Amino acid sequence: MFSSNSFSDYVLLDAGDGEKLEAWGNITLRRPDPMAIWPKLKPGIWDEAKAVYHRSNKGGGSWEFKEKLPKEWTVAYRDLTFKVSPTSFKHTGIFPEQAANWDLINDKLKDRHDARVLNLFAYSGVATTVAAACHIEETVHVDAAKGMIEWAKDNRDLSHLSDERIRYIVDDCLKFMKREVRRGRKYEGIIMDPPSYGRGPNNELFKFEEQINPLIEEGIKLLSDKALFFIVNTYTTGYSGTVISNTLRKHFEDGGFKGKIEADELGIRIEGTDYYLPCGFTSRWSNE
Ligand SMILES: C[S@@+](CC[C@H](N)C(=O)[O-])C[C@H]1O[C@@H](n2cnc3c(N)ncnc32)[C@H](O)[C@@H]1O
Repeated sequence: MFSSNSFSDYVLLDAGDGEKLEAWGNITLRRPDPMAIWPKLKPGIWDEAKAVYHRSNKGGGSWEFKEKLPKEWTVAYRDLTFKVSPTSFKHTGIFPEQAANWDLINDKLKDRHDARVLNLFAYSGVATTVAAACHIEETVHVDAAKGMIEWAKDNRDLSHLSDERIRYIVDDCLKFMKREVRRGRKYEGIIMDPPSYGRGPNNELFKFEEQINPLIEEGIKLLSDKALFFIVNTYTTGYSGTVISNTLRKHFEDGGFKGKIEADELGIRIEGTDYYLPCGFTSRWSNE
């Protein structure tokens, strides 16, 4: 399992009975989690939650605040700072299990200031910020949702990276990649976290199983001959690490790339236990 110990301000306190209890800095939230089907490990601590997200029978859901909380607050990962805010879709702006990928990005880029990184489906820009913090040549952040760019810029500014070269692009990822291929652009690192199902900026239908191959094909065309990594993450239920490992591997083998492909579940350790909450799958190619 890919798991990180570097996200010091985030603690998974417990999970079970379809929910998780998490400390985001000093604010504890309780959210549904369909993976946590086992009984709670620490039933006595769940009243600590300051806000609880309740699913609605009609779809969606809402937060019940046990006390008045700030609209947003910050948490630290290494020496970076990110904004947390409970959104109406139960998300907080951060997928904490991604810290395992942020660690890889940081390891690969820390001595490669010449690198350019493309972060696709970049959401609130946490991975963008991690890459830019390595003082690289350029980080390109692409997401279809215009509103998320402001959040991504907040994360850049909170982490004191306003002087770094980051391009924020609102576009459909595949269209943008095809344009970059035509322009002859190259990258040393590519990160993609496509949704299972969704709509692009012009309402284009997105289905993971239909788009993943073209996305990887275009991504490979964008890799430079000094490429360092290519990360593909999915939260699509039903596709295991082996499925995305096979998909990435086939394209890299066909492209004649050397290096290593690894794939695993992403998970977060439940504090004080050796239980892990599984949270999606990542497959990654790296140059060694
Ligand atoms: C699963 S989230 C990514 C999470 C993010 N990688 C992280 O770890 O914080 C999906 C994101 O993809 C974006 N998105 C969905 N379809 C898109 C498309 N066709 N092109 C660009 N972005 C898209 C959404 O706006 C959303 O921000």
